[in-house]
Amino acid sequence: MTHILDGKNLANHILRQLAEEVKQYTDNHYPVPGLGIITAGNDPAGKVYIKSKLKKAAAAGFATFHVHVEHSEDELIDVIKRYNADPSIHGYIVQLPLPAHIDTNRIIELIDPKKDADGFHPLNLGRIMNENPVVFPATPAGIIEILKYYDIDPASKHVVIAGRSQIVGKPLAVMLASKFPFGNATVTLIHSRTPQPEKYIRQADIFISAVGRPKVWNRMHIAENTVVIDVGINRDETGKLCGDVDFEDVKSIAKAITPVPGGVGPMTVAMLLQNTWSLYKSTIKH
Ligand code: GUN
Repeated sequence: MTHILDGKNLANHILRQLAEEVKQYTDNHYPVPGLGIITAGNDPAGKVYIKSKLKKAAAAGFATFHVHVEHSEDELIDVIKRYNADPSIHGYIVQLPLPAHIDTNRIIELIDPKKDADGFHPLNLGRIMNENPVVFPATPAGIIEILKYYDIDPASKHVVIAGRSQIVGKPLAVMLASKFPFGNATVTLIHSRTPQPEKYIRQADIFISAVGRPKVWNRMHIAENTVVIDVGINRDETGKLCGDVDFEDVKSIAKAITPVPGGVGPMTVAMLLQNTWSLYKSTIKH
């Protein structure tokens, strides 16, 4: 029997626990934790995610702040400086992708690493490389939590990751290969310039896809008894949400698989709030 790895349920469980912890602090007159979100440009999918992030943050007891920047990079930089200086904001994110005329790396480097709820600042990414982490990027952290919850230990396993993004593939490859308690895997990172990707994917104990293209992997690419983690949130030809993996085709042969929606997506939001909470706690003197 294939296991369906239910990220939605796990995320709700984590958010309920977080809400209780937040309440304990605020009931004891500690400040309210604050999450900020900065958006720029006009990505319609992004807008849906932002709404959900703000709603879940508020439900967990966070104060939420959202600024949308319509035009220039300078305007965006001004908001970042304001958020860096604002003591009621403990963690914030700049929603990606940014419009093409904005220099994303420059923007990320301006985020105060102590408020970097996404873990995208080079200092925080470097700390992961040094195995001395402060925060992990939210989507990789969510994937690790799913594996932990379902007792899937990557240690000594072959993990194949498809997609080398700064947000998912690259940090996740480093995390899973490192000597963290959830790491110690043998990791293969494949990408758009890898010939015959199925040659690698078919050897995986755990296959994680973060390529962002609808239903590109099916049972021609994935061997029986593979654990499949699908990070993609795409639309199929009828406009329905779907993953990178053809779920219907793969679900009966996989050992376990995350659905889309309801798999990795909700975990990203939960981990973003957990990161913000841990940044908040590091500012509190007991
Ligand atoms: N765009 C897609 N995923 C993410 C994420 O985790 N954080 C940010 N800031 N932007 C994203």
